[in-house]
Formats: sequence, C-alpha cells, structure tokens
Amino acid sequence: MKKRIFSGIQPSGTLHLGNYLGAIKNWVALQDKYDSTFCVVDLHAITVPQKPAELRQKTIEVAKIYLAGGVDPEKSAIFVQSHVSEHTELAWILNTITKLPELERMTQFKDKSQQHNQNINAGLFNYPVLMAADILLYDTDVVPVGEDQVQHIEITRTLARRFNQMFGETFTVPEPYVVEEGMRIMGLDDPAKKMSKSAESAFNYISLTDDPDTVREKIKKAVTDSEKEIRYSDEKPAIKNLINIYSLLDNIKPQEIEDIYRDKRYSEFKNDLAETIIGFLEPFQKKYNEIDDGEVRKILGEGAEKVRPMAENKMREVKEKMGLI
Ligand code: AMP
Ligand code: TRP
Repeated sequence: MKKRIFSGIQPSGTLHLGNYLGAIKNWVALQDKYDSTFCVVDLHAITVPQKPAELRQKTIEVAKIYLAGGVDPEKSAIFVQSHVSEHTELAWILNTITKLPELERMTQFKDKSQQHNQNINAGLFNYPVLMAADILLYDTDVVPVGEDQVQHIEITRTLARRFNQMFGETFTVPEPYVVEEGMRIMGLDDPAKKMSKSAESAFNYISLTDDPDTVREKIKKAVTDSEKEIRYSDEKPAIKNLINIYSLLDNIKPQEIEDIYRDKRYSEFKNDLAETIIGFLEPFQKKYNEIDDGEVRKILGEGAEKVRPMAENKMREVKEKMGLI
C-alpha cells in the first residue's frame, strides 16, 4: 500500500515563490509515490480577519495555483477544508487532550499575536489543533511543509501518541518532510526574515502573479552583501538565498552556480536569475489563466467527495473509542 501525504496552504495574502519552492514543488514531486491529499485551509485563514469576498476569491486562486504548479487531480485529491466538516469536529476533540503550555510555546502563535494584537482570538491559539486534525483524519504518514511548520507537526505527533495511549491505537503518527534548500526562502529585502505573504513591502517577495518587468525590478533591488564576490556561504545570506532560488528553479546545484559566476558581477548574476524566474513564471501563469473557475469548483467538489469517506470513518472510530454514543 502507498504511504499517505497531506498538506495545505491558507487562502490569504499573496502566494509567492517561497510557497512554490517550499511547498507545491515538493508536492508535485511526491504525488506519484504517495497517496496525496492537498487542502486549501480556509478555516485556518479566518484565524486572522478576512474579508468574505476576498476569502472566496483567494480560495479558488489557491486551488488554481496548486493545479498550475502541477498538482494533478487525477493523482491527488484537492479540496477545501471547510467542505469536510470532520476537520472541525476532530479539532474539538483534540482540544480536550491539548495542554495550554503546548500551544503557548508555538512560534507562529507568538508572532501572529504580536502582529494582530487587537485580535488574539481563541482560533489563533487553537490553530495547531485544527492542523493536527487535518493531518490525523487521513492516517497521514508524511507531511511536506516548509521548515516553519515543523513545530506544528511536532504537536500533531504528540496529540496522536497521547490519544493512542489514552484510548487505544487510532492515529498514525506522521513525519514532517522538509526539503533542505526549499526549507526557507528568505525575503529579497531582508535575508534575515523568510519570504512572507504578509510582508509589508512587495519587494520582499516574488509573487506567483508578478509580470516579467516586476520580476526584473524586484531582483535588481534585492539586497546583496557588501563585498562583491558571488559565494555560497552562510556569511553571505543574501547571495545564498538568491543562489538557492536559482538552484531550485533550474535544478542545478548551488556549487555549480557558484562556479559559473565566480568571477562575474552581481548585475550579471541578477540578470540571469531574473530571466530564470521569468522562465518559470511564464508557463506557470499561462496555465493558471487557462483554468476556469467552474472547472476548479468541480475539481474541489470531487476532491471533497473522494476524501470524505475516510474522514467519516476516522471520526466514527474516534467517537466509539472515547465513549461518545
Ligand atoms: P503559508 O504561506 O505560511 O500559508 O505557508 C504555506 C506553505 O508554504 C507552508 O508549507 C510553508 O512552510 C511554505 N512556505 C511559506 N513561506 C515560505 C518560505 N519563505 N520558504 C519556504 N517555504 C515557505
Ligand atoms: N499551517 C500551515 C501553514 O500555515 C497550513 C496547514 C494547515 C497545513 N493544515 C495543514 C499544512 C496540514 C500541512 C498539513 O503553512
């Protein structure tokens, strides 16, 4: 039997190259080998304020990005989290075995409650529990995510083990799957922080919808380090990040890029990098624009139908084990 993977992205903010390289690119590589489920996690997105019309539009947009990025609905289930109500149902149950200090420790909670200090709602606090429910409903073996999500996978593992110990073997304990170089694509304007959909400046990221001129401008403005040498080293985080992007998009090793550009100027390297990014974005955007909304809705409906029986069975088992009659 094939092992199972599950992953998801929130329909909020601007999807960027970090999301593609850190998440979607890996999903596509894994979907042949694994039984794959990819979710648009709208219930996670509403843990910070969202405008209804935008949320609606973003949900479709993110599904389109999965498809344009190469997720194949023939191989993988693609669906919207709120369409399968077992996610929230299991989240409630898992809440009852989650300890407050376990949630208080979460880096993402600490960051987001600083960003949204007027609205630190209970949903934001319980976010990792809903994520655990997403993963555990489907006997997920492997969760491909960026490095920032590993802490949430750890708590998922803790909850799975705890439930199994209290009520008998029910959940598969999942493993995180993080690709080395895709772990963290950093901001173009600040290589100390990750490229982020909620960044204040658009010069932080390359959006998956940026046009060629915008890409050229953003790469030209991307910060570099003081000395002029093109070297792949932790001492040069800005250049290292740009080399990583180049390397992941072109499937060449960072060391080879270093060799090619060793005696060249930053400007030449940046020009080539910009063209590499454009070379990826053009066919991606063409595909994206060809997919119509009706088609996406149909795929999402079929995706939910495909996964629902598993979610229902798992919930039945959970309730039975806990004594909910
Ligand atoms: P988010 O944008 O936080 O909803 O993340 C969606 C997915 O993209 C998750 O798997 C993240 O770990 C991944 N991701 C987000 N930002 C980056 C980044 N800068 N570098 C690598 N992966 C990222
Ligand atoms: N929390 C994840 C993020 O912000 C998104 C997510 C929700 C997720 N549920 C998931 C990722 C389940 C993997 C598996 O990126």
